[in-house]
Amino acid sequence: MDSFKVKGPSRLEGEVSISRAKNSCLPLMAGTLLCQNPVGLKSLPNLRDIRTMKKLMSGFGVKLQDDQFHCDDIHNTYAPYELVKTMRASVLVLGPLLSRFGEAKVSLPGGCAIGTRPVDLHLDGLKKLGAEINVEGGYIYAKAKRLKGAKIDLMFPSVGATENLLMAAVFAEGETIISNAAREPEVVDLGNFLNQAFEDLKIAGLGTSTLKIQGISQNSKNKEIIYTPIPDRIEAATFIIAGVMTNSFLSIKDCDKAHLGSVTNALQMSHANLKIHDSVIEVMPRNKELTGFNLRTTPYPYFPTDVQAQFMALATMINDTSIISEEIFENRFMHVPELNRMGADIRLNNQTAVIVGGKRLKGAPVMCTDLRASAALVLAAMIADGETNIQRVYHLDRGYDGFEKKLTSLGCEIQRVNLSARAQA
Ligand code: UD1
Repeated sequence: MDSFKVKGPSRLEGEVSISRAKNSCLPLMAGTLLCQNPVGLKSLPNLRDIRTMKKLMSGFGVKLQDDQFHCDDIHNTYAPYELVKTMRASVLVLGPLLSRFGEAKVSLPGGCAIGTRPVDLHLDGLKKLGAEINVEGGYIYAKAKRLKGAKIDLMFPSVGATENLLMAAVFAEGETIISNAAREPEVVDLGNFLNQAFEDLKIAGLGTSTLKIQGISQNSKNKEIIYTPIPDRIEAATFIIAGVMTNSFLSIKDCDKAHLGSVTNALQMSHANLKIHDSVIEVMPRNKELTGFNLRTTPYPYFPTDVQAQFMALATMINDTSIISEEIFENRFMHVPELNRMGADIRLNNQTAVIVGGKRLKGAPVMCTDLRASAALVLAAMIADGETNIQRVYHLDRGYDGFEKKLTSLGCEIQRVNLSARAQA
């Protein structure tokens, strides 16, 4: 198991290029299952989750050649527990498999560290489209000769449920309307890909909370497109926060400012010194003292839960009190005890954290508990005095491509330590 050794405090300088969005690439890969002709997805990031999805898809019979997905010879529609349990997004194969092949057996993803995360909205929506769904022995068994368009009103704008239902609706007969749909840029990206790949398909309303999908015949063949997924707004936000925390000159390239509004607004309200261009965000040393903030996580276009932990790391260094409420996941504060081990003063009251900032952090041994919490610990380590040993960075490897390499190139003293190799030596 790898860990990071980070020596603080750091000052960063230079340019960093943002990778393609993990949360777009995963549903896009699932979307290729609808395609009889090869399709390409450009610049997939080198991430553990992407490798897991590739393994899952190879199991169905998908042939992968560089960026090309060949889904013409799928011989089974079974997603086993061993793979699904390691990555919840695996459940996104359910919609496209069912839509194209009329059946699928997919393991229930189960709980995960940040909350129970059920898939009831995915399954209720598929039932509305006419699927017969049985859950038995930890598996979802889904069947439908051909799905039928329907009106689906989501109880909550779940990103995954919207994506699964969007893909399921592609070969459904007639029109599907999803209301209270997720508006996240990753949902829009998936819709754009499907619209481009299938000539007769019409998905309208992308980016709004009502999606209208005019289904096409199950025999429809896609065009052989090569699609480039959107940049990773969460990775971009993490680097912007790194620049603000270390009071650095940093240029974050290849991102999309349109997807980062809630994050850059919150930072500017706290007096971070940012220059915002279309695809480049520049962070500059501050000319005013940072002030505390009061934020709550909510679905897009508002403040994202995936940068809550990183903002918490930032709050620890601001000479002010900040408040963060987590309203998407019930257990997404596991970084709090770790940050407190480094000297932060964060008090939890149910879903709200009060951060009494301005305490100088000190390096300490800490442990990653989930993907974004890991990023928050690296940010905290960069402003702490001395060495921080961050264990279980496999969580971070799920979603940040070459994180420590990018940080090293900016001047951060961060080193990956392979503990098993050390034990063998
Ligand atoms: C996606 C993102 C994740 C992000 C989250 C919220 C991917 C691969 N992951 O996860 O990084 O943190 O959106 O922006 O894109 N819920 C139900 N029933 C369901 C589905 C969801 O109750 O059937 C609940 C969840 O437990 C959670 C909330 O809805 O409390 C939001 O979940 P959802 O939007 O579905 O997140 P994911 O798609 O899993």
